Amino acid sequence: MDSAAKASCDAPTEIRIVDLHKSFGDKHVLNGVDLGIHAGDTVAIVGGSGCGKTVLLDHVLGQLRPDRGYVEVVDHDDPRQPLRRLDEIGELEIEHIHRHWGVVFQRNALFSGSVYDNIALWLKESRQLDDAAIAVIARRVLAMVGLRDDDAFLATDQHELSGGMAKRLAIARALAMAPMVLFYDEPTTGLDPTSAAHMHELIHATHNELLPSGGERTTIIVTHDKDLLTRLRPRTVMLHEGRVFFDGPFAEFAANTSPIVRPYFELMPVLNHGHGHGMPN
Ligand SMILES: Nc1ncnc2c1ncn2[C@@H]1O[C@H](COP(=O)(O)OP(=O)(O)OP(=O)(O)O)[C@@H](O)[C@H]1O
Ligand SMILES: [Mg+2]
Repeated sequence: MDSAAKASCDAPTEIRIVDLHKSFGDKHVLNGVDLGIHAGDTVAIVGGSGCGKTVLLDHVLGQLRPDRGYVEVVDHDDPRQPLRRLDEIGELEIEHIHRHWGVVFQRNALFSGSVYDNIALWLKESRQLDDAAIAVIARRVLAMVGLRDDDAFLATDQHELSGGMAKRLAIARALAMAPMVLFYDEPTTGLDPTSAAHMHELIHATHNELLPSGGERTTIIVTHDKDLLTRLRPRTVMLHEGRVFFDGPFAEFAANTSPIVRPYFELMPVLNHGHGHGMPN
C-alpha cells in the first residue's frame, strides 16, 4: 500500500505550510506554497534543480523567514497544544521544537571532530547525559546505519570517512535524537548504487522504527531518486514555479501524463547514475 494511503488524513497535522512566499532579489522562488503534513506521513518533495526544495525545507527548519505566509508545527514538548507558528516564537522555542526533529542536510554538514563528537554534540546540548550514556546511544545508532560501533571507529575523524559513510553518520546523528520528525535533503545524491540501495532500506526502516513516545514518526525527504520513491512509495509533492504542482500517492505521480510531471519523472534516474545535473527547471 502507498504510504500516502496508509497515513490517514485523520492523523493530526504535524506541519502546515500556508501561502509561503520567498524571493531573493527579483527571483521569486516560493510563490504561494500550501502543504499540510500529517503525523506518520512519508512525504517526498521533488522538482527540478533550483525549484526551491531546499529553500522550502529551510523555512520549515526555521532557518529562513518567509516574505509572506507562515509555517506552523507541533511542539512535541506538549503535543496537545495548538500548532506553533514559527514566525511568532523565539529562537529558544524553535530550539526546543528541534529537539524532537532530526535533519540530514544536503551536504551532511558534519561537525569537525570525531564520529563520537558528531553524535554527542546535539545530545549534550539538549539532554543531560554523560559520556557513558551518550556512548551507548552512539553505538546503537551506528549499528542501525550499518557502521562499526567500536571505540576505534568512534574516535575516527569525520574527514577520514567516505561519502557513503559520512552520509550514514549524518543519519546516525539525526537518529540519536529519537526524532519524531525526520528530514532528509537528497540523502542518496552522489552515492554509488549499492550505498544508495542501503540508504533506501535505512530510510524505510527508520520511518517505521518504534519510538519511545509511542507515536508515529513523520519522514520528509527532498529527493531526485526514483529508486527511493519506488521503494518508499511516499506521498509525492512536486514543486513547480514556486507552488505545489502535484500532491498525491507515488503511483499517481508515476502515472501522471502532464507535460510538467512526465519529462521530470522520465529523467529522474539520470542524476542517480552520476551524469550531473540534467534535471529540467
Ligand atoms: N540564500 C540565497 N540567496 C539567493 N538565492 C538563493 C538563496 N538560496 C537559494 N537561492 C536560490 O533559490 C533557488 C532555489 O534554490 P534551492 O536550493 O531551494 O533549489 P533546490 O530545489 O533545492 O535545487 P537542488 O535540487 O539543486 O538542490 C535557486 O535559484 C537558488 O539559487
Ligand atoms: Mg536542494
